[in-house]
This record gives sequence, C-alpha cells and structure tokens, in this order.
Amino acid sequence: MKIIKTIAVIILLAGCKSAPKNKYDTWSEYLGGADRNHYSTLAQIDTGNVQQLKIAWTYETPDSGQMQMNPVMVNGVVYGVTAGLKVFALDAASGKEIWLYKDSLASNGTSRGVAYWENGTDKRIFITVAANLIALNAADGKLIPTFGINGKVDLHTGLADEAKDKFITSTTPGTIYKDLIIMPVRVAEDAGAAPGHVKAFDVRTGKLVWIFHTIPQPGEKGYETWPKEAYKNINVGAVNNWAGMAVDVKTGTIFIPLGSAAPDFYGANRKGANLYANCLLALNANDGKYKWHFQMIHHDLWDRDPPAPPNLITVTKEGKQIDAVAQVTKQGYTFVLDRNTGKPLFPVNEVPMPASKLPGEQAWATQPVPSLPKPYARQVDQLTENDISPFANNKEELKKMFIAADKRLFAPPDTSNVLLFPGYDGGAEYGGAAADPYKGILYVNANEMAWFLKMTTEEQFTEFVKNMGRGGANAKKSAGEQIYTIHCAACHGKEREGNAASGFPNLTGVAQRLDQQTASQVISNGKGKMPGVSNISKEDKQQLVEFLYGVEKKEALSDFLSKMKTDKFMHSGYPKFLDNKGLPAITPPWGTLTAIDLNTGQQLWQSTLGITPELPNQDTNPTGCENYGGPIVTENGLILIAATKDGMFRAFNKYTGKLIWQTKLPAASFATPAMYSINGKQYIVLACGGEKLGTPKGNKIIAFALPEL
Ligand code: HEC
Repeated sequence: MKIIKTIAVIILLAGCKSAPKNKYDTWSEYLGGADRNHYSTLAQIDTGNVQQLKIAWTYETPDSGQMQMNPVMVNGVVYGVTAGLKVFALDAASGKEIWLYKDSLASNGTSRGVAYWENGTDKRIFITVAANLIALNAADGKLIPTFGINGKVDLHTGLADEAKDKFITSTTPGTIYKDLIIMPVRVAEDAGAAPGHVKAFDVRTGKLVWIFHTIPQPGEKGYETWPKEAYKNINVGAVNNWAGMAVDVKTGTIFIPLGSAAPDFYGANRKGANLYANCLLALNANDGKYKWHFQMIHHDLWDRDPPAPPNLITVTKEGKQIDAVAQVTKQGYTFVLDRNTGKPLFPVNEVPMPASKLPGEQAWATQPVPSLPKPYARQVDQLTENDISPFANNKEELKKMFIAADKRLFAPPDTSNVLLFPGYDGGAEYGGAAADPYKGILYVNANEMAWFLKMTTEEQFTEFVKNMGRGGANAKKSAGEQIYTIHCAACHGKEREGNAASGFPNLTGVAQRLDQQTASQVISNGKGKMPGVSNISKEDKQQLVEFLYGVEKKEALSDFLSKMKTDKFMHSGYPKFLDNKGLPAITPPWGTLTAIDLNTGQQLWQSTLGITPELPNQDTNPTGCENYGGPIVTENGLILIAATKDGMFRAFNKYTGKLIWQTKLPAASFATPAMYSINGKQYIVLACGGEKLGTPKGNKIIAFALPEL
C-alpha cells in the first residue's frame, strides 16, 4: 500500500511541470483558497456514497435570516458570520460554539464570510461591520487593540474629504496576501457613491499600505477615459470590487473584478469608456502597482458588475500549459485570459451595439463578445415570441409586453422597456464558479430570469423637480416623503408597496417589523441587494425615517434638493418579467448548472438546477429555479450545490452533469458550502438562512458527513 502511494506521488509530481500544487484538502480561505476554485481533493465522500450523507451537527445562530456566508476552517475551528453579522468560532467536529463576537454596530446585513491570517501564535479573524474592518483574536474572539484604533480601521481611510461621510462597507471578506489584507468594498450605486478605490492594509497594525485609484486621477493611466472632473467624485463614483478577488501567490499578482461606475443606468456625467469600471484588473499585490487590465463592458449602462471573484486555473492549448484567469459575468460570457498578460485565450470581438436615444447619453459603439466559450445562459437576442412560458395563463398579455420591449443585445436604457436578459443579478451571481484547477474545467450555476429596465421620462423628471419645492403641487408631501420618492421609490414602490417577486419589501408595515434604529441602520448600511444611502444629510434621513414611521410631518423642508445629486433620467425600478402567477414569463430553464472546458472553450454539459414545486413533472422535467450561492467541485467527481430557491442541497456527477442525490435543507441556503476533514472525517458545511426570494427564514449552520460505519 505504502509503495503504491509512493509511486502515485512520484507520478503525480512528474506529471506536474508547473510550480508545486496547492493543497486542496483545506478550506482556510474564502471559496476554498486564494485561487477561488471551490475545489477539494478530499475523497471520503464520492459519487458512490454521497447518497448516505447525514447531518453530523447543527449550529443554531442567535439571529436568523439570509446568509451568503462561505465559512472557513482552520486548526479544527470553523469561523463564519451570522445573518446579524455576529462572528462565530465553532468546534469543526461537533459544531459547538467556542466564541461569538457581536459588534456594537452589527445588525442584519450581508457578509460572505471572514478572512483568516496567522503568523506563529498570532492568529487573526477579519470581518467588516458597517464601515469598519475589524481584527479579532482567532482564539477568543476579542478585538486586537493594536490593530487600527482599538481593533478597527475605517474603510473611508485613504478617500478624499468629499467621500468621508459616504456609504462604504464590505460584504465579501478581504484577500490575505503575506501580511496584507486587500479589501473589496461595497458603496452606493447612485450619483453620490463613494469611489471604489482598492486598498491594502497591514494585517498587524491596520495601516494603509497601498491604494489603487479605480477612478484614475490626473496623470494616472485611464484618466483620459472619463470627463476631466470625474475623479473629484462629485456626481460620479463607485467602480468598486464588491465580489472579492483572487490572488496568484506564485507571482504575487492580485486579480480584481471591478464593478460599474455610478450612477448605474445613466452615464451622461461619465462619458467615455470609464476605466477601470467593468475591468478585470491585475495588480502587484505587494505594492498595488498596475500590471494589466481587460475591460469586459465599455461605459456600462446595465449595472453589469462582475459578480464573483475570477478562477485561477491552468489550461492546455496546443500542447502548452498556460496559467489562465477566467471571469464569469452577469451577462453569461466567460472571459478566459492569460494570467501574465491579460490577453484573451479565445478571440474577443468588438461587436457594434445600438446607440442611445436618451439626451445626454452616449452608449459605447461596440462591446466585447468572446468567440468562445459560448454563453452559459441564453441571451436576450435569442428569445422569440415562442419563448413565452408554456405555463402562463396570460400568454397574450405577456407576448404584447415581450414584443414591445427592446430585445437587442446591449440595448441601452430608454424611457420604454428594455428586456434585460440575463437579468440585473445575472447570469452568474455572487456564488461564482467552481473549477478543476489543473484540468481547466469550470462549473458555473446561473439564472435565466428576464427583468425590465426603464428610465423615467424627461417630463416626469421635470414635473418631479418642479413640484419638489415648498410651493409646488407636492407641497402637501412632507420632506420625508419627497426624499423617499427620490431615493427609495425605484425599489420599494411609489406607495411603499414593495415588489415581493423582485425581493423588495413592502415598507408600509415597517413599523411593525423593525424599530426605528434598525431601519435607520438599514438605510445607512444597506442590506442584501439594497445599497446604503450616502448622499442625504442626517436631518433628511431623520425626516425620511419619521415619514416611514408615520410621525407627523415636519414643517421645515431642508434644502436637500440643492445638495442632492441625481440624474436627469432616473431608473424606474427592478421588475421581473413574470406571469400572473408570479412565475417567470419566459420558457424554462430558469436555473442551470454548466460545465465548460476552458482548454477548448467547449461546453461539456448543461443541467437544469432546481425545481418549481407549483408546476407538474418536476421529477422528470425540472424547470430549474432562481439560485444564488456557488458549487463545490471535488477531484473525485462530485459537484455539491445548494443555492436554489426550492431549498434543496444537491450532488451532481461532475463528468456527466447527472443529479445523483438531493436532500431538503432546514431553510434555503443562498451560500457556497465549505469542505474539510477533521479526525479522519470529511464534512460539508453550509449556512441555511433562507429569507431571499421570499423563502422562510432560517438560522442553522449545518454540517453533513457520512454516518459512522
Ligand atoms: C436598489 C433597490 C433599493 C433601494 C434604492 C432601496 N432599497 Fe430598501 N431594501 C431593498 C431590498 C432588496 C431590501 C431587502 C434586503 C434584504 O432583506 O436582503 C430592502 C430592505 C429595506 C428595509 C428593511 C425592511 C424589512 O422589513 O426588513 C428598509 C427599512 C428599507 N429597505 C428602507 C429603504 C429606504 C428608506 C430607502 C431609501 C432611502 C431604500 N430602502 C432604498 C432594496 C432597495
């Protein structure tokens, strides 16, 4: 046995020409490792016994609700974060709580996990709550007083005065490289958004070590792709990496997918290609120096942020091994680039796209379309009238809406409906793709949901502004209500009625659900899909909250309009294209899982992911369903994924795409699982928080393992 093993090791080493392989039997970093491949070589669980998996332990978190968190496991301890942003440490074998940290600013919010760093006996956990990056002692969950100010660093650090009070947080764990933590940030998406500059902090002291301006300043490369004043952050912002990064520790390169510029949907104040928005950016991780960039959308008008960190994989082309980086997108394309040069490994064509008719707007004339791999999700220009859902009762009505909408690829926003497909969230989502790093195979789950995109007309806007002042027709409206209309109505509805199908809560009953302080925190810090609001004054925010809570309107209307930075054309909301039963109005599949060979660019298989219990024949002919949260892939042939709205956890055969096992979770898990082994036993752990997509809330972290033999 020993001899065979030794021989196997020798063969393995001989077959590996590039640098030594990473260890893939741990889960000490976000998504399994710095290459973000969600990949494991642990082999106790396989395609033959996965059906026997049982819940080995359950940890009940002290709060409940949506969790997008991917836990890490180090030295026998699982670290993660709850729906209420409390940080926990659990015994990895039993799930027993070791410590729990609750920050004074913690409230229900979004966190995809923690970052772990150690050096000798110094072991730290990093987490972001509100605007603070926090360092905890991994042993006891206590703040590390020598980090920043009493354990905390303000993520506004390094930003100009203009942005000092603006909304900033981080919903994805920082990337550890040597003694640095390189931070993703979430900022607002309106004209007043903070800039998304990428910053590296010293893990010991919290000192800012380097900053890269994602909206370049005068003299910096890319400055010429913006109006001259854009860098001043007056009515242009964002270009932030919220989804996380990957790092190549061999070359010391960090790969950063950057989101769109704000405001999202109207770019009159940001004419130009807008570097480094919508770019995959490669920097020297040591000093933040520019290496290369590849822009995936020019002058984005659709909020097409890259939704997940890229995957670092090795592919073989014409007998040559190439270190590559693959970026999945909301729009369904996979960009496969040479990791050293940023050059595409399959030709990317600049394809002419429609011009904008909105006054002031200049859509970019072309957009990059990869020749391979083919998109893993259907795209809007492929849909025809025959793609109205066969399950709909109101087909004629849907067909009319479909015909009336602009269905051209990259159709720019207008005052009539554009059909956005894949929708605002993608395509690929924050869960990202799993990959077989040495075989070059990518596994990506995606949504095929159509949404509408529409801007208010200029008349609507003028009318709106005219009535804002004290004497206008809206004078009977309180200041709070007017602030609401500007900042909140696009998502929560004009009458605060919400849009349940799109995930926007009704706010008319908010007083019964939340205390004012929590609501105020949600407004400042954001939650889930909701960004924090950055450009209203304290007083205006107070008036807004009072309006929401039905407090008598105040007489004084502060001059918020003059301070307000808004667009001439405002985005009018996020409606999904649904039938009258609330199901998707286009033909299934609505959720998919796809395997793509990045060596050849060919799709290997595509399976339907998830079911719609309201519809017939889901055993034999599943429709797929909306899904958020990524898969794990194992060397020995498994893909494990929850993510679906139907609340199931599934195993697929990675070679065939066949569903081989499924089980119902205590609540839907919109998160990527983690995999580790302790005391000779292999575990899969995942966060079941539900809440998203109207599913029941949950509060369980559960670990699956094979039963004792
Ligand atoms: C881009 C869309 C969007 C905008 C703009 C927006 N929200 Fe939200 N809001 C959401 C979503 C989505 C949620 C649900 C978040 C979750 O639970 O994941 C939410 C949740 C909330 C909640 C918590 C409700 C509950 O029952 O838990 C409050 C309060 C709220 N929003 C108030 C506001 C106010 C006030 C504004 C304007 C300043 C605003 N929102 C602007 C999308 C938005």
